[in-house]
Amino acid sequence: MTSETNQILEAKFAAAPVVPLIEASDPRVAVATAKALQAGGLDVVEVVLRTDAALDCMAAIIAETSGITVGAGTILTVADAKAAAARGGQFIVSPGLVDAVVHFCKEEDLPVFPGTMTPGEVQQAHNLGLGIVKFFPAKLAGGVPMLKALSSVFRDMRFMPTGGVSADNLGEFLAVPSVIACGGSWLTPKAAIEAGDYDAITSLAREAVALARAGRS
Ligand code: 3PG
Repeated sequence: MTSETNQILEAKFAAAPVVPLIEASDPRVAVATAKALQAGGLDVVEVVLRTDAALDCMAAIIAETSGITVGAGTILTVADAKAAAARGGQFIVSPGLVDAVVHFCKEEDLPVFPGTMTPGEVQQAHNLGLGIVKFFPAKLAGGVPMLKALSSVFRDMRFMPTGGVSADNLGEFLAVPSVIACGGSWLTPKAAIEAGDYDAITSLAREAVALARAGRS
C-alpha cells in the first residue's frame, strides 16, 4: 500500500468510514454522482468494472473532481488491475482473493482490498502481507457475528464489509472495532441516478455519515 494513499484513506475513514459504489455507463453521470456523494461528506468512491465504460467513468471522476479518492472495484484479473492502474485508479477492490492481483498491486504500491468470507481466505490474505480485506458478501457471509469470530483470530486484520450493507445495518457493522469502513451500492440507487435526482444521493451520503458517527461512538 502506498504510504500516501494509505494515510489519505485512514484519515478519510476516520471521519467517514463509508465507500459508495458507482456503477455507471456515462462519465458525466459518474462525475455528477461522485460530486453528489462528496457534497454529502463521502469522498472515497469505488467505481465498479461492470460496464464497458467503467474505466472512462473512473478516469472522468479523477480528472473532473478534486479531493475524491477514486478506486476501481470488481477487479477480477491482473489485466483489470493493470487497466485500472493505467487510468489512475488509486486503490483496487476485488470480490475474491487472487494472489496474482495482490502481487501486481504490491509491485505497483497500489492499495488492494480483496474479498474474503472464510477463515482460510483471511489467512491467505494475511500470509500475503495484507492488513485490510473486503468481507464479502458481508450480510450473507454471516454479518456481524462472523466478523467478530474472524476478528478474534486475525487480531491485526481490518475488514471492509460490503454486500448487503445499508442504512439499516451500517451502524452495527461499524461498531465492530476491526471494521475500517463499509462499502455498498445503497448510496447510489439506480432510480435516483436515472431520474437525475443527485440531491437524493447527497442526502443518502449525509445520512450515512451521521449513522457512521453514531455507530462508532
Ligand atoms: C460489491 O461489489 O461490493 C457488491 O456488489 C456490493 O453489494 P451491495 O450492492 O449489496 O452494496
